[in-house]
Formats: sequence, structure tokens, C-alpha cells
Amino acid sequence: MSAPTKPLLTSRFGIDESWKLANAERAGAYRIARQALTSRKPADLKNEVKNANIRGRGGAGFPAGVKWGFLNKKEGEEIYLVINADESEPGTFKDRSIMDLDPHRLIEGAIISCFAIDAHVAYIYVRGELAFSIGRLEQAIADARQAGYLGERPFGIDHAIEVYVHSGAGAYICGEETALLNSLEGRRGEPRLKPPFPAVKGAFGMPTIVNNVETIASVPDIVEMGGDAWSSLSRLPLDGGIRIYGVSGHVKNPGLFEAPVGITMRELIEDYAGGMLGDRPLKAVIPGGSSTPVLDPRRKVDAPAEAHPLHKWHGQSEIDVPMGVDTYRALGTMLGTCCAIVMDDTVNMVEACRNLMRFYKHESCGQCTPCREGTGWLVDVLDNLCEGRGKVEDVELLVDISNNMMGNTICAFADGTAMPMLGMVQKFRDEFMEAATRGVPEGVRHDESVRAMVEGRA
Ligand SMILES: Cc1cc2nc3c(=O)[nH]c(=O)nc-3n(C[C@H](O)[C@H](O)[C@H](O)COP(=O)(O)O)c2cc1C
Repeated sequence: MSAPTKPLLTSRFGIDESWKLANAERAGAYRIARQALTSRKPADLKNEVKNANIRGRGGAGFPAGVKWGFLNKKEGEEIYLVINADESEPGTFKDRSIMDLDPHRLIEGAIISCFAIDAHVAYIYVRGELAFSIGRLEQAIADARQAGYLGERPFGIDHAIEVYVHSGAGAYICGEETALLNSLEGRRGEPRLKPPFPAVKGAFGMPTIVNNVETIASVPDIVEMGGDAWSSLSRLPLDGGIRIYGVSGHVKNPGLFEAPVGITMRELIEDYAGGMLGDRPLKAVIPGGSSTPVLDPRRKVDAPAEAHPLHKWHGQSEIDVPMGVDTYRALGTMLGTCCAIVMDDTVNMVEACRNLMRFYKHESCGQCTPCREGTGWLVDVLDNLCEGRGKVEDVELLVDISNNMMGNTICAFADGTAMPMLGMVQKFRDEFMEAATRGVPEGVRHDESVRAMVEGRA
């Protein structure tokens, strides 16, 4: 049993009216920003973030310090910080908790980050539906400005910093960083071709760092502890620190848990989330938001070669591999947003899959044909399978459609649809074959708990 560690990122979640400036300050808010801006050099702060080995918390897991290192401002250019608070990935609900319960931690992180990367403006792009979070952030920004932590001379130094909240309009694709930038600029929220990457040409054609809410909210602790010390809180190399894990679905105690990088899925479910609801067997778990391929606890890690990154876990269950960006990639899945959707043995995987794919069909921006058409076809085939009109060949058709989507589009949305689809067929083929011959029984098909669970509402 792993003991939960003393919280850092969520340490103020439990205090009374934690979102109010006076209460947050009593618990340490802005102390680190004041110290960083008045007595440290931007290059030194950038170094701390690099040494922290923090992998982006938005899903792709790119090292934040390396991304910041790509900035190379030219004459006449302005650097922007854009904080991605779109958080529309099904099953994911960590960023909104930071904004709702500790908005000052995010603002403090934004202030230090702006100073470190030589930006004067940070935009927080918030999913439009999160009206409550937007209200909390706007109040917190106004209070921080009034206190002199934002504005022309934050903490009395000569480096103006402003933070603005920009509300999205409820499109999942606007979480993709370049679609987000288009939306921020008032254009249609469609992804841009890369390169150029945002660090070279981002918001308003200027060099821009796009980071997730949790990534930026981690910066104050990184700066306070020092990058190396913060990194070593993790159980894994080159994937530092602590992070917020989310758990929804069939567990006794769903919610958010702060823990070191590198705990296992088994620990997350059993030690943090209280174990399976009603002590039913774990059937499957989507590890990091709906775009990440499913894990099957019955499957064993196949890594006999010593050189394989998962050799140490050869023969163990998939859910016993430490949860990290690189370990999960080696396992054939992704850590994504680190918010798991847990399913017990009552869940029919074909129906669960159809539910997910409906989401992707609805949210595809339609710019690239393989994604626009592929997501629709996947749903059509899954509808047939679920409703008893399917054929055995449909199972291969799902694989074929998915393979034609992968790598053939401007952004990673299509891959984020096709990969979980392929994972489901690969790991639960029997169930797809059964649906192809018999459909999915009515009672299972319309089970509201399954729907709620897959949508991350349960
Ligand atoms: C379809 C799609 C949706 C995404 N949604 C989000 C999101 O809601 N929040 C987020 O931080 N990153 C999201 N991302 C990842 C961003 O493109 C980007 O990698 C991230 O904001 C970078 O921040 P990080 O390096 O701190 O993780 C999404 C990516 C794709 C392809």
C-alpha cells in the first residue's frame, strides 16, 4: 500500500474559501513569485523548470523546460504565454479544480513563467462551459492586480505582466494548441499546420509558449524547491515530480489525488480511489482521458528482451507498470491527462466504445477528410454492431478505418480517436465478435451508468 504524500499542488484545496486572496496568501500564495521576481534571474528560473523534468500535463507529455528553450525572440517580437484550460477530454477534471479551488496558484505560476520566458502577457484560454472557473479566475486576477502582483510593476519590478481570461465556445478541438491560438485570435478554431510550432510563430504571429494549467500551476513549487529536488519526488527518471491523478467510474472513492509520478494504476485504484465499487472485478481502465488506449488487467507485459524499457515488469499485469509518459508509451498506450476511467465487469466494451466514438464524431472539426469521414464511419459501424445489424467483417472494418485515420491529418485528434478504437478491438476482440453475431443486449446498451461512466460524469 502506498501512502499518499504531503500535498503540494493541492495543498490549499482544503482551506476555507481557498480562492480568496487573503486566505491563499495566509497559506503561502505569492511568496515564491515575490522572491523570484525580486531576487532571481529569468535564466535561472528557466533552468529550474528544465531540471524539474516536468512533462506537460495537457496530454502530450512534452518536457516543459525543453519547450521553453525553443524560444528565440527576434527584434520587434513579443513573447506570449498561453495557458490551456480547455479541458474537454472526457474523463478529465483536474484543471478546473485548480482554477476553482486555488486560482492564485495558477496566477502565481503565470507570473513566474512570464518573467522567466520574457513575456508580458499571459492568456488563460478556458473552456466556455466552465463559467464558474472563469468567474473565480477573473476575481482572482482582479485581486492580484489590486495587490500589485500584476500590472505595470509587479512586486515593484520593471517587468509589466498582465493575465487575461479568454473564454472558448465549447469545442473540444480548441484544446489542441494551434486551434486554440486561432480561436484566441478570433478565427475559426481549426488546427494549424506545424511547423512552425507555436514557440516560433504562435499567438498573433509571435513566439508563444502554450502550457497546460497544471504545468504552469506546478511552477511555484518547482522554483521554491529547486528543479532537481522537485524532480526527485517522482519514482521515474526524466519524468519529474508529483501530479494530479483523476479517477472516475466504478471505484468507491472517485476524485482527484496528488501523488508522485510513477505510481501504478493498481495503486491508484486500490490505495487512492478506495478499490472497486461493490468489490466487483476490474475489467478495463482508460488511463488518461478518452484518447488513450485502454488497459486490460488480465494482459501481461511482454518485454522479454533486457533492452526493452519495460523489461523490469515483464510478465506483470499492465496495471502494475508505473504511470509515466515514457513507460505508458512503451506499453502501447499514453498517460494523457492522467485521469483514469475505471470500468467493472458490467460494462460492455462495444457499447462503451460507441459512446466514446460518438463524442469524436461530434467534435471533429471537419478540416481533414480522414478525420471528418472516419469518425462518422466508426460510429456507423459501431451502431450496426450494437444494434444487431453487424457482420463479423465489421470488426476488421473498424481496424481498417482507424488505420486510415492515423497519421493522415493536420492534428492529433484523429490519432486520439483511432488509437483507443484500435486498443479496444485488440484487447476485447471477443466482445466485438460477439456483438457482430448477436448485437449488444438491450439492457446493457441503454445502461445509464455505463454512459455516465464513459463520459466521466459518474
Ligand atoms: C484534440 C486535442 C485536444 C487537446 N485538448 C487539450 C486540453 O484541453 N488541455 C490541454 O492542456 N492540452 C490539450 N491538448 C494538448 C495541447 O495541444 C498541447 O499539447 C498542450 O496544451 C501543451 O501543454 P503542456 O505541454 O503543458 O501539456 C489537446 C490536444 C489535442 C490534439
